[in-house]
Amino acid sequence: MVPQLIFTHTTDYKVDTVLLLDNANAANQFCNERELAYLQKQIGEGSKLTHINQYDRQLFIVVPDPKKTGDARREALRKTGHELYGLLKKQSVETLQIVSELAGAGELLALAEGVVLSSYSFQKYKSEKKGSKLTAIHLQAKELTETAVKELEQVLEGTFLARDLVNEPVIYLTAEQLSKEITELGRKAGFKVDVFGKTKIRSLKMGGLLAVNMGAPNPPTFNILEYKPDNAVNDQPYVLVGKGVVYDTGGLSLKPTPNSMDEMKCDMAGAAAVVGALYAVARNKLPLYVVGLIPATENRPDGNAITPGDVITMYSGKTVEVLNTDAEGRLILADALCYATKYKPALVIDLATLTGSAARAIGKEGIVYMGTAPEAEKKALEKSGYSVHERLVEFPLWEEYDSHLESSIADLKNIGGAEAGAITAGKFLEHFVEYPWLHLDIAAGAFLSGMDSYRGKNGTGIGVRLLYHFLKEKLNNPA
Ligand code: BES
Ligand code: MN
Ligand code: ZN
Repeated sequence: MVPQLIFTHTTDYKVDTVLLLDNANAANQFCNERELAYLQKQIGEGSKLTHINQYDRQLFIVVPDPKKTGDARREALRKTGHELYGLLKKQSVETLQIVSELAGAGELLALAEGVVLSSYSFQKYKSEKKGSKLTAIHLQAKELTETAVKELEQVLEGTFLARDLVNEPVIYLTAEQLSKEITELGRKAGFKVDVFGKTKIRSLKMGGLLAVNMGAPNPPTFNILEYKPDNAVNDQPYVLVGKGVVYDTGGLSLKPTPNSMDEMKCDMAGAAAVVGALYAVARNKLPLYVVGLIPATENRPDGNAITPGDVITMYSGKTVEVLNTDAEGRLILADALCYATKYKPALVIDLATLTGSAARAIGKEGIVYMGTAPEAEKKALEKSGYSVHERLVEFPLWEEYDSHLESSIADLKNIGGAEAGAITAGKFLEHFVEYPWLHLDIAAGAFLSGMDSYRGKNGTGIGVRLLYHFLKEKLNNPA
């Protein structure tokens, strides 16, 4: 659970306190002379985080690095928030107040974001729960508004939801269970959810989704999330598409275990990002028309499983020779991308744990993206990426790559060669797209095998903060 974030004007002297300052003197209302002298010395030595035990309360002083500005400064504060959370945990702090003496509110929000994201843990299957004790954070800063505080709380809630979904194993989170969770979240946040079951998917002839599902013991679902407030500023929706492979064994083109299969419950992280983002958008009542599309299934081997060499007919009518059943994400995404056409979207963004190639290319430090959307959309997305520190690098969709996907018996084959794997996956999707489009390959950052500051371990919830920020900016810079 996200600790409650509370907007306040007043300081409570008994509560454990974080001061956000740029010089020691600004702490004079909180410290005696000896403490102030100690703080002065710490700051002089370049300490970004100082702890003073005042016995009736804990005092933590955070001083941002004066050499850092803008995005870099806020990211450094998120990371300090992670260190701070370590100290709060040691002291079993339940209620905290953060008081900023800095000019604006951005630093305070970044610090709080780092603390909250660090407090996440997935406790559902632990007999002895050891979750965070932090339940409330009171925030006080010049220029801070109640709206900004509540907005951050909902975005973090969306991120936690995405992390929970990614961390759920497939024994629980089948495609149908995912649909139930989405339906419940839609009810809570105020977006509409339509779930197509196997019969409907069959009648629509979603051949990619059905093909991937052939070896699975559980049926697929196709989920439509719609948030359309009366005051929406856009007639044409922003459509978010998320890969919802609830488990990827590779199918008959089986992945070797233990190396590459262990973490494949994360193969619905794109879907989780879409759900989390829609949740945050709806909870914050952004006046934007946003649609989410999530094709969901397991990818498993079985006597009935789709077989290398099979030719399938996609929802679009195009035929695909499936030469590797482990290149399944593009098959289900292609059907969803084609379905998106009927919304006449302003822009479609898909998110998918699509290729190991993307992960190898830039690692967990970034997201590989590509697409046909205008340059302004790409720049806006990259800017949001820097702002939330989910950074993006563009890969090309040069036409020469088309030859990598030529099949001798069908319109396309589902794999390219050994090279440029992230790009050929994107090129495959491009065949099913007829509107401005961006494709985000989040394979590297969706699930971490070790701790990484406030992103933690396991599901990161990558994409939620990025999409929210990008969509919110649409209100300031309408197309
Ligand atoms: N789900 C995987 C990609 C993946 C890899 C996600 C690592 C997260 C971490 C995807 O379905 C896949 O298997 N891709 C193949 C494609 C190949 C067979 C063309 C890959 O990248 O190896
Ligand atoms: Mn795969
Ligand atoms: Zn996959």
